[in-house]
Amino acid sequence: MDDIVLIREALQAREAAYAPYSKFKVGAALLGKSGTIYHGCNIENAAYGPSNCAERTAFFKAVSEGEREFCAIAIIGGYDGQIDGYAFPCGVCRQVMMEFCHPAEFMIITAESEQDYKKYTLEQLLPEGFGPFNL
Ligand code: THU
Repeated sequence: MDDIVLIREALQAREAAYAPYSKFKVGAALLGKSGTIYHGCNIENAAYGPSNCAERTAFFKAVSEGEREFCAIAIIGGYDGQIDGYAFPCGVCRQVMMEFCHPAEFMIITAESEQDYKKYTLEQLLPEGFGPFNL
């Protein structure tokens, strides 16, 4: 799958972001090994703590649908009308990725646009991570 396709899907997923408090809207598109793309957006809450990131929304949707193996995720975030930086997954989301993804193989794409993006392995963003293989 082309990176650009996944980025386009993440941009589309961002449309559903519910971010009335931070106003920072994030979309994610997660590619499962089955070939299915799962979409996620951030969903905030008046009590702040129960808010969920776009990446985890996508992962939890996928796992709840029975998919447990993944190839890549594209992430795009920013304030309304101006995506002028790269949104990197928070530490909690990186740990959720660690549960279901091979650290040296799973690719994380953070995009400013379809043309401008950076690509990392999970291992690069979560070195020496703790995962299922440690137990
Ligand atoms: N957020 C995400 O959804 N993903 C990221 O990669 C970074 C942060 C959300 C959480 C919160 O709703 C808003 O962006 C501001 O932190």
